[in-house]
Amino acid sequence: MLKHEENEMLTRVGPGTPMGELIRRYWIPAAFSHQIPDCDGPPVRVRLMCEDLVLFRDTQGRLGLLEERCPHRTASLFYGRNEESGLRCVYHGLKFDVHGNCTDLPCIPQASDEERARTALELKTRSYPCIERGDVVWTYMGPPELQPEFPELEWALLPAEQRFASRHIQECNWLQGLEGGFDATHLTFLHGGDAEKSRRIVATLYEVMATDFGFIVGTGRDPGEGDIMWNMNVMLMPFHKIISSRPHAAHVWAPIDDENTMLYSINFHPSRPLTAEDLARETSFRGIHTENYARSDHAIRNKANEYLIDRKLQASGKSYTGMKGLGTQDCAIQESMGPIADRSKEHLLASDAAIVKIRRLLRQTLADHAAGKPLPGMNPESFRVRSARCELPRGVPLGDAMKDAVRLEHMPPTA
Ligand SMILES: [Fe+2]
Repeated sequence: MLKHEENEMLTRVGPGTPMGELIRRYWIPAAFSHQIPDCDGPPVRVRLMCEDLVLFRDTQGRLGLLEERCPHRTASLFYGRNEESGLRCVYHGLKFDVHGNCTDLPCIPQASDEERARTALELKTRSYPCIERGDVVWTYMGPPELQPEFPELEWALLPAEQRFASRHIQECNWLQGLEGGFDATHLTFLHGGDAEKSRRIVATLYEVMATDFGFIVGTGRDPGEGDIMWNMNVMLMPFHKIISSRPHAAHVWAPIDDENTMLYSINFHPSRPLTAEDLARETSFRGIHTENYARSDHAIRNKANEYLIDRKLQASGKSYTGMKGLGTQDCAIQESMGPIADRSKEHLLASDAAIVKIRRLLRQTLADHAAGKPLPGMNPESFRVRSARCELPRGVPLGDAMKDAVRLEHMPPTA
């Protein structure tokens, strides 16, 4: 349980908020590259971190991410003409380049060159630098002098044929998604079949360790005899998870605003192209991707249609929820907690130990950021990690000695 102020501090991401400023210190996914394939092609709207922006690819192929509102009369640049190295507002013809500079003012032909130059300076609009990695356009919205190198995020650095990515909007705060992603206990219930069977393998040991990339969430299952089986899931600052599966997988919970999140879901193989079988399995109801309308960010099974819950299926014991798709199950239950879950109304149990520790670490990171201390994940090499498993004798905690087990250089090559 959190105090109201603590909940606000962890969840809100608008400009000037503690978490908003912390997340702005990292690269944030803004769009897929395929949404803006062509130079001088149509721009797209991007809402990110409570800011309304417009993304375009200019004549030279450079990416521009500008405040959506034209600084002249606040019209939307989304309707603009993308031509000759800039985006032109169709209201009065003002033009902006990818850096937000006003490069043409055709509506004041009477102005002197000097006047025109001064006005153009006043009209410089907000712009954010962009980079393309892994068929995703990433942006940096923090202080320019603190812009980090792009991290060595494994899936984003592979050839396109070794990766498959999708995204959809989740109608709730980003932290609900992230907490759900690291809540090991829910796997045996929310995503389970027969209830009695699943209760037998619930994790009972929880450790969360701070690292140079973010943290490791360790959950231990006790098989009754022999060693404890630990899963070590990695959280890469500020909103990435690498999922241990075959092929490997990842999630990114990118805040659209306080009450909406763009969930990116990725499968990848480090050494070979994904096969048709891989893709068929991963895009089925057993995979991490949520069924979307074609070319839409909206899931087919959503809040408005009660996620197409099938009560007969639920009663049959084959599905705990009666909802099809792991992604839909997560989305449904996280959205059901409200647009921003009120954590002051919770009653946490022993099985929530990892969630408590994650919140504690996030609050510590906020405090470190406020104090100007170094942040995790700033060294690009620190992101060279994957989730991993290990077995330890009963009574031996998952300690610092296991931290190296998640580093790529300590992993066996993937078949
Ligand atoms: Fe889940």
